[in-house]
Amino acid sequence: MTSAHQHVRVLTGIRSTGSLHIGNYLGTVKPALVWQKTHPCLFFIADLHSLTSLRDRTLRVDSCLDLCATWLACGLDTSQSIFFRQSDVPAHTELTWYLSCVTGVGMLEKAHAFKDAVENGLDANMGLFSYPLLMSADILLYDARIVPVGKDQKQHVEMARDFAGSFNAVYGEVLVLPEACIQEDVMIIPGLDGRKMSKSYNNTIPLFCSVDELKRKIFSITTDSTPLEASKAVEGTALGVFYKHFSSEETYKDFSSRMLKGGLGWGHAKQELLDVIDAYISPLRAYYNELRQDVPFLKKTLSDGAERAHEIAASVLQRVRHSMGVASW
Ligand code: TRP
Repeated sequence: MTSAHQHVRVLTGIRSTGSLHIGNYLGTVKPALVWQKTHPCLFFIADLHSLTSLRDRTLRVDSCLDLCATWLACGLDTSQSIFFRQSDVPAHTELTWYLSCVTGVGMLEKAHAFKDAVENGLDANMGLFSYPLLMSADILLYDARIVPVGKDQKQHVEMARDFAGSFNAVYGEVLVLPEACIQEDVMIIPGLDGRKMSKSYNNTIPLFCSVDELKRKIFSITTDSTPLEASKAVEGTALGVFYKHFSSEETYKDFSSRMLKGGLGWGHAKQELLDVIDAYISPLRAYYNELRQDVPFLKKTLSDGAERAHEIAASVLQRVRHSMGVASW
């Protein structure tokens, strides 16, 4: 770690609502883990956020364990980064209250998640309304400066910055202003039908599904009826995007030029893609399956992480309390 980066903390969270698909892996997990090499990082499972929509205890608990095994299998290194479950650090909810007292209701009414729920006629709960406050607390509690997120979360990180600014305007320079970091080239991962990969479109490839399921999914990627001999451009298609992300630049270039030449059908292309993806994922999947069996290890990993997170959170929270004159003279 270079000294200039030693104090620039990176933080990101992921909601615990089910297992991850390839779009989550390429768009969130992989880019987030790149930061580990150069910066102190915190990664956490946002189980408190899942409470706004998920009301099934078993699903929530399973999802936390699943995400824990997934992140570790994908390369999260707990000897470098802090990895924890949000609800194990109660300071998140305390800071949420403090932020809510310097935030106008109008600000929260503008948040996309809340607006969408209202527009779709859903009976939004207060948790969904204050979602951006809890997310801001997640970030501000660790003086995080860089927040790698998908494009859909950019507004929330900007809100965190605004809330920190409002807090500081009242109580002095207490909170660090964070910034969203969005990786342009992985912003949108297409799904099997070419639309954005999303659970709500039912077009996902689960990251750690069986090889059989992976094969079925890949062979169901929408392609046209160009005859075998004809030239085919893969750049920008779902098939091309997956190939590019799971192989080296050279291998991808070779593939796309062979496709352009003609003589290779979509069936061949899909088989090749399956081999490429499986070669990449199978060692991760094997490690994931092993970790997923060892529930005590997963729980211990998260509770050790929570202890380390708590240490940072406690000192920031003390600064915050002191500035307001609560729980501190
Ligand atoms: N809201 C984020 C999502 O839905 C998850 C999240 C919660 C988060 N707290 C965070 C992301 C803090 C970054 C920083 O994906």
